[in-house]
Amino acid sequence: MDEALHSTASSRGPPDARSETPARVNLIGEHTDYCAGLVLPLPLQLRTRVALWRRPDRRVLAHTGLGGGAESGYQLGDEEPGRGWLDYVQGLTATLQRRGHDIGGFELDITSDIPAGGGLASSAALGVAVLRALREAFRLPLDGLAVAHLVQASETDFVGAPVGLMDPLAASLGTPGRALFIDTRSLAMEDLALPPGMQVGVIHSGISHRNAGGTYAARRREADAAARALGVEALRDVEEADLGRVAALPPPLDKRARHVATENARVLAFVAALRAQAVAPLGPLLNASHRSLRDDYEVSHPDVDVLVALAQAEPDVLGARMTGGGCGGAVLFLSVPGRAHAVGSRLVEVYQHKTGRPGTLLVPA
Ligand code: GLA
Repeated sequence: MDEALHSTASSRGPPDARSETPARVNLIGEHTDYCAGLVLPLPLQLRTRVALWRRPDRRVLAHTGLGGGAESGYQLGDEEPGRGWLDYVQGLTATLQRRGHDIGGFELDITSDIPAGGGLASSAALGVAVLRALREAFRLPLDGLAVAHLVQASETDFVGAPVGLMDPLAASLGTPGRALFIDTRSLAMEDLALPPGMQVGVIHSGISHRNAGGTYAARRREADAAARALGVEALRDVEEADLGRVAALPPPLDKRARHVATENARVLAFVAALRAQAVAPLGPLLNASHRSLRDDYEVSHPDVDVLVALAQAEPDVLGARMTGGGCGGAVLFLSVPGRAHAVGSRLVEVYQHKTGRPGTLLVPA
């Protein structure tokens, strides 16, 4: 093993840069961001933290407790996909160099309390945290929007996960505890307070999901095919009034387009409720979003459906749905204030009893 891998933070002195970036839960607007649509992520208190030391050579060494602890290194210019979590770091340095940014070697310590594969944008948080530290250490001229674009490009082109812009934007520009309404076409954004009459809960289903897996990419292709068949630039251009034309598409494009059109309308209704600080419309919108993701977009998972149904049946729960890329990951629920912890803890127990899966209550911690 490389000698330098054994160096510790104390032997290296204080870091040249530090950064931290939040996880997000998406309140509503799922699988719309790569259709130029509307999203409403909520940055959370869960975080990824990075400390960075510049090196005098071109070597990159990274240490992380992620995935059971790992140390890894490579030479700038020799980035090669296929090295697990290190691909997220390699993707950033490869993209920065390709775009002419001047960086040297460095060491990284990465810590995180965001579960990987939990649907809470752990990879975007990692990418934004590392890139912010690199920006500070090497004085890179990148604003928050440029950081988000570069993280997305690195994940899409290098890691091979063709993700949208929502997660890097939420990680880079969002404020924990405040919802960030984003129009992913115009990039107009609005910061919204949550009404006091509700509380957010998030449970990890114990089923790990991957955006680099086949379903996510397949849905992107189907969304593009549906837009082409309808003669529009992106499914964002399809509204609820167009559902008659949508129904005439060959399956499964009809269902995919219907999800995106109805989901965009649900985001607008949810945002209108937040602006009015009204709680009543929120739960039914979450429930409808889940049905659409399960039946029309087909990105849920049978055990996630069990967890969502259990949550929806709780008297103190206003509404619930899967959140994130899907095929596993996390479930979001809204409860009456002060009840999310008790309800969430009970849901984890009943869910384990029914499915044998160890769920985890992530929010409230
Ligand atoms: C993942 C992607 C996002 C978005 C969601 C689904 O989290 O990273 O870009 O597409 O799935 O809404």
